[in-house]
Amino acid sequence: MENQWARWGLDLHLHLRRHGGLRAGIEHALRDAVRSGRLPAGTRLPSSRALAGDLGVARGTVTQALEQLVAEGYLESRPRSGIRVAPQPAAPPAKIKPSPQPTLPPLRGIDLRSGFPDLAAFPRRAWLAATRQVMQTAPNAALGYRDRAGAAELRHALVEYLGRTRGVVTTPAHIVICAGYAHALRLVCRLLRHRAAAPGTIAFEDPTEPDYPALVAQLGHRAHHIPVDGEGMLVEALTNEAVAVVTPAHQYPLGITLSPARRLELVSWARRTGGFIVEDDYDGEFRYDRQPIGALQGMAPERVVYAGTTSKTMAPGLRLAWLALPDDLLTILHESTRWDESYVNVIDQLILAHLIENGELDRHVRRCRTRYRRRRDLLGQAVARHLPHVRLSGVAAGLHAVLRFPPVADQEGALLAHLVARDVHVEGLSAFYHRPEESPLGILIGYGTPADHAFGPALNALIEALCDRRQLVPPPQRDRL
Ligand SMILES: Cc1ncc(COP(=O)(O)O)c(C=O)c1O
Repeated sequence: MENQWARWGLDLHLHLRRHGGLRAGIEHALRDAVRSGRLPAGTRLPSSRALAGDLGVARGTVTQALEQLVAEGYLESRPRSGIRVAPQPAAPPAKIKPSPQPTLPPLRGIDLRSGFPDLAAFPRRAWLAATRQVMQTAPNAALGYRDRAGAAELRHALVEYLGRTRGVVTTPAHIVICAGYAHALRLVCRLLRHRAAAPGTIAFEDPTEPDYPALVAQLGHRAHHIPVDGEGMLVEALTNEAVAVVTPAHQYPLGITLSPARRLELVSWARRTGGFIVEDDYDGEFRYDRQPIGALQGMAPERVVYAGTTSKTMAPGLRLAWLALPDDLLTILHESTRWDESYVNVIDQLILAHLIENGELDRHVRRCRTRYRRRRDLLGQAVARHLPHVRLSGVAAGLHAVLRFPPVADQEGALLAHLVARDVHVEGLSAFYHRPEESPLGILIGYGTPADHAFGPALNALIEALCDRRQLVPPPQRDRL
């Protein structure tokens, strides 16, 4: 008998994963054998003593593992007949398939796509110091279930920070901490639906980041595309949309600012129609030629939903953003999010609050501003010097710039393919237009994206690749690089 059980152990390759504990290893190996059908229902198991001897472990460990599997329904223990494999559900559990959604592969080559800050500049040391401080000082109660609108510490800190740096007029009660702007927009959609008891229409600038209209459409709302001219969204093209989403400080992707006249027009539209404005202030901290223009929200806190994020000042991976809501949406927020929990883990919220309160966030943003201003200047100088027919458009702000080409210079697809062949990755402007065929010829350069040491080589590679494109440069210019 002993021999038979010993063989059973070997035949079934009951290899114990010894890391993680012997008992867990035995449980894992037996579960696997039952699930895969290698041990069919009714199979009698060896005695715990025999199994322990076979596997070279203490008998108590085996007994505990068997008891656990009896409790889970893999085994059953019958008086006088020992332990057997219990009947299992008819169909074997489906194998978990690898996710059909590919994770983004790291991009090889020169990454000048827009949308990223320099991740190498993340204030790791300050974040670590703040973490230590928070862990040493936060009362136990701070780690419990917190207000779903976010930790009060962060909401207080943000009111001061946003008032000082962006001219936002709000109170801690009006702030909701969200897991990024996309999540914030989702929440706004939910509030609108709750308020109107029906889906509504949401106006976006055209061009815009295409994911956002797609997101609101997926949530059942209608997305309208309102053209942008040199002053920003054409407010006169708005009708009775429930919301107009704008990027006033630095239009994404064109990089212009919403003119003072358009700001007034937009606020009048909202007051007249009862619509709301969502102000996506994604990179409002970064202006290089003058003081940042204050948030539109300060002009009409009762009609503007202000949205800010740490994705440009620190890192998209933090998933930390905020909304400052108008009064009108506050009651709805409380009703429609009654069953929600805080959207962002509270420790990160406390850390960010600490970084704001001790001035570290301001210092970090100032350092980044210097870094990105220098990069933008270098890009502008290189374009002016080597590509005289190319125009760097938009204001000196944010983390990206648009290069505009003479209309007949090239085809966007061919230009992008040429750059990719030279290992330079950028985005074409047409991807942001509702009707891509109506897009002017241009590319976005995310000069924030490379690490500092890699920016110079990345810029050289870009300019060289563009100079190699004969359509863009008259021949004599090509020798100058
Ligand atoms: C126009 C615009 N708004 C907001 C954001 C910030 O999004 P999130 O906070 O979800 O990272 C981005 C990010 O790239 C953006 O391009």
